[in-house]
Amino acid sequence: MKTILTAENIAKTYQMRDGIVYALNDVSLRIQKGDFVSITGPSGSGKTTLLLALSGLIRPSFGKILFENQDIACASDKELAEFRKKHVGFVMQNFSLIPYMTAIQNVMIPLGLNGKTSSEQKALSSAVMELVGLANRQNHFPRELSAGQQQRVAIARALVNKPTIIFADEPTGNLDPTLSTEILEFLQTINKDLNITIMMVTHSPQAADYGNVKIKLIDGKLDIKNKN
Ligand SMILES: Nc1ncnc2c1ncn2[C@@H]1O[C@H](COP(=O)(O)OP(=O)(O)O)[C@@H](O)[C@H]1O
Ligand SMILES: [Mg+2]
Repeated sequence: MKTILTAENIAKTYQMRDGIVYALNDVSLRIQKGDFVSITGPSGSGKTTLLLALSGLIRPSFGKILFENQDIACASDKELAEFRKKHVGFVMQNFSLIPYMTAIQNVMIPLGLNGKTSSEQKALSSAVMELVGLANRQNHFPRELSAGQQQRVAIARALVNKPTIIFADEPTGNLDPTLSTEILEFLQTINKDLNITIMMVTHSPQAADYGNVKIKLIDGKLDIKNKN
């Protein structure tokens, strides 16, 4: 197994009027290529902060984050943007689709950032829309799609750059149990068939069971259980 992401003693603090908040407090972990990591913990325990730090969207206040030996905790803004474009896909609870763009236009966004031509963008996005089972919904607007379909478009958008790792923050939080299972099965397929590493925050113990590595956060601190 190859280690792709390592966090060493990371902390994230926020200075508030009434003192310092430790959103993360001395967290260390090691993620192997192909892992499906589930992250649970009470509200406010630091789950979102951990995903944001590991995906290079925020910098930790202390500690090191190594992605394939590149230190992303002290990378420049430009290096971080490059890292995210090349390696990271992000899926959120509220789908975060752009309402005035069609499904396929939403999926094309990361490709535009990566400097692909418009016909390359269309071809790649079409293929990924097919992969998520929405070949016949490409020209629909988000409001014309069901919640489960919208989340699949969001996953297609996260997938289109062939990321090394997908970070998903409560991706089934707004879905009913049937649609949740559908999305979880789909994430599992991506993980197994495409060998894309997944880190998923969830409130649901059933969803957490999809992980081969389970992480629990309490008050910004770690409690790791590994099923294997
Ligand atoms: N930008 C911020 N400014 C101040 N405090 C923050 C910020 N982001 C998160 N926090 C605090 O850090 C803690 C962890 O937040 P978060 O990572 O969002 O938790 P979770 O996703 O587990 O609900 C909470 O106490 C939250 O209020
Ligand atoms: Mg959160």
